[in-house]
Amino acid sequence: MDFEELIKRRRAIRDYLPKEVPLSIIHDILDDTRFAPSARNGQPCKFVIVRDKTWISRLSKESKASLLKKIKENPTSPLATYASILSDDGFNVFYNAPCLILICVPKDLASGDYDSALAAAYLMFSAANRGLGTCWIGLGSHLENPDTLKDLGIPSDHRIAAPIILGYPKEIPPASDRHDPIILNILDSR
Ligand SMILES: Cc1cc2nc3c(=O)[nH]c(=O)nc-3n(C[C@H](O)[C@H](O)[C@H](O)COP(=O)(O)O)c2cc1C
Repeated sequence: MDFEELIKRRRAIRDYLPKEVPLSIIHDILDDTRFAPSARNGQPCKFVIVRDKTWISRLSKESKASLLKKIKENPTSPLATYASILSDDGFNVFYNAPCLILICVPKDLASGDYDSALAAAYLMFSAANRGLGTCWIGLGSHLENPDTLKDLGIPSDHRIAAPIILGYPKEIPPASDRHDPIILNILDSR
């Protein structure tokens, strides 16, 4: 796949075949992810690979509960738009994907959001290049139960920055609309 094709085939996939992703492929994807740039080449990202459906379902339930609590505490928060779907017992924030990769960074690292976003982009492109689908699940980054985080193996001084689901797509939807680049200014030498 050339790069032009790859950037169009990387889509947010929310419907997966009931097929496991081999661990060896996940390792290959994470090997590619190492080449993402990071501030001062700090390479701060660490990964938790969840391939157990029961675990993924538990994490979805805990994410939903945590989000609903936040919405209750602050009903004017932008999260409130998700209240109805989050209250639906049948809704899994991870879309029943066969695999979830949690990209974690140190809590006190100023560049953590940027470093993890770039790692996520490399991960998603590497997966797409291997015929796999991914989707960043922002709604899945609200896990707060210290026991759950400990069971996941996330050190207490780290946080989940980017939860990415992974699996074989049922289909790859066409690229969604993008507007033209908004160029604020071009400052030429002439
Ligand atoms: C930071 C971030 C958070 C996201 N969170 C969610 C989410 O919680 N649930 C979801 O279904 N999609 C989520 N997405 C996927 C976006 O909705 C999707 O990338 C966007 O609609 C563009 O579609 P495309 O990825 O197919 O180009 C998220 C994407 C990003 C970058």
